[in-house]
Amino acid sequence: MKLNDIRNTLRDNNLADESDILRALVTEADLSEQERIQIAKDGAAMVRKVRANSDPTLMENFLGEFGLSTEEGIALMCLAEALLRIPDAETIDALIADKISSSDWDSHLGKASSSLVNASTWALMLTGRVLNSEDDISLISTLQNLVRRMGEPVIRTAVAQAMKELGRQFVLGETIESAVHRGQVMQAKGYTYSFDMLGEAAINDEDARKYHLAYADAITEIAKGAGKSVRDNPGISVKLSALHPRYELIQKPRMLDVLISRIKSLAMLAVGSNIGFNIDAEEAARLDLSLDVIETILSDPSFAGWDGFGIVVQAYSKRAAPAIDWLYHQARKHQRKIMVRLVKGAYWDTEIKEAQVLGLDGFPLFTRKENTDISYIACAKKLLSMTDHIYPQFATHNAHTVAAVRYLAGENHDTYEFQRLHGMGEALLAEIMAAGAQANGRCRIYAPVGAHKDLLAYLVRRLLENGANSSFVHQIVDESVRAEDIAADPFAKIQFPANNPNIASPVELFGEQRTNSR
Ligand code: FAD
Ligand code: 2OP
Repeated sequence: MKLNDIRNTLRDNNLADESDILRALVTEADLSEQERIQIAKDGAAMVRKVRANSDPTLMENFLGEFGLSTEEGIALMCLAEALLRIPDAETIDALIADKISSSDWDSHLGKASSSLVNASTWALMLTGRVLNSEDDISLISTLQNLVRRMGEPVIRTAVAQAMKELGRQFVLGETIESAVHRGQVMQAKGYTYSFDMLGEAAINDEDARKYHLAYADAITEIAKGAGKSVRDNPGISVKLSALHPRYELIQKPRMLDVLISRIKSLAMLAVGSNIGFNIDAEEAARLDLSLDVIETILSDPSFAGWDGFGIVVQAYSKRAAPAIDWLYHQARKHQRKIMVRLVKGAYWDTEIKEAQVLGLDGFPLFTRKENTDISYIACAKKLLSMTDHIYPQFATHNAHTVAAVRYLAGENHDTYEFQRLHGMGEALLAEIMAAGAQANGRCRIYAPVGAHKDLLAYLVRRLLENGANSSFVHQIVDESVRAEDIAADPFAKIQFPANNPNIASPVELFGEQRTNSR
């Protein structure tokens, strides 16, 4: 197929019918029932091993108690988001009063196994009471009223502190020097890294220049420990939205050249140091634009012979499979070897809401979790058949997905790597590394680096991921869910029509009342 045709298929798929896309992916995955049973069995065995060999972290305990299926969990997410997006303290305080005072904190008290989680429940319950004690006239309530008058700023600081505590788990270091130093412990165990300088969605050009400089400094620092093999060396992950404040389709004529020149200058540094240079995938509306940037790098002769350029594909996207075809054909055309990280996608909630706000003709991504899991497996199979030009990097914390990749790869475990996020999936990927002695297991850790103020967007995505009851990491800490259910075969759960009936399509958001406006 020609590159242009693939790009057109990719564009046509954007809001296409979920059932049509899913049918094609099931055909592409081409797994027999027996193979699917085997994969689910392997996945369940991994779940059991992980449960036996690890204790949940503070964050996992916390989100196990305040998952997003509880009102309080949602209130906490709202607060985290508020801290992220509201510029003034007064509005943050109004939101705290609104969210905290109405929630049933008492019922969580004493239930969580970690004492720190219990302590935070106390704090939240207390503040909830403080804000609720409208007409109590006892001495205690007089005191509470006093606290109430000074309450919200104190709570604002306390919530910020709690978020900081949770955030600490996800960051390897505040500076690249300290992160590289801390990373040596896992490197000694055979892992490697992709460092991520926190910072995204630059607000203005000053911001973008600051992030650009931080990436450049980081590459220089990472390069100091680099050896001959780009696959073994630690690398860097970059977000295009950090490098230009108007990284959006409508600004393409104005911003593309600037963005490309910035990304090229960084990629040149990475080439000189022989380290991997990865472009993270962000919101769906930016995919097409990112492909223009990627094509420029792939076709530029100054990058000839460099195998370290990395791209991310999001399996939740209806365009995932054609995106992989396009990347493969680009790499072949320009005689390049590239790295492709396959993820499920970190912006699911945002995308659903954004499509509804815009009144689009459909969603750009799958609406049932199983469909994303199937897409991941079909895309993994595709990538594993393209290893002449692609080094696949499977980023997942899900034991079933890991089992599927290992099954599909057969004996060829040195032609790809697994990836996990710092602070997540540690025990699961340790199992793979332990198997590595016999089967060349490889694992890279994606490690955020930076100050707390730049962490919030990333932190909110991780809290959503860990708090959602459909997510693997949430289920594995809940011992009441059987290993077989956690690692259940997604193909066995296929339904047609394939879209999620509980999610209103963007056009039908207002049901009988009216058609949604565009
Ligand atoms: P699972 O629990 O199996 O899957 C959870 C995922 O399923 C959700 O994140 C979502 O994608 C999907 N999902 C949830 N509900 C639904 C639903 N109703 N319908 C359809 N799909 C649903 N993400 C990016 O976007 N860009 C990146 O560049 C990126 N880089 C990463 C690098 C690494 C090393 C890792 C480990 C992750 C990265 N991620 C990135 C984040 C990644 O997308 C999430 O960690 C991933 O989705 C979690 O998948 P899982 O297999 O671990 O867990
Ligand atoms: C994110 O920033 C890991 O790129 C992924 O959420």
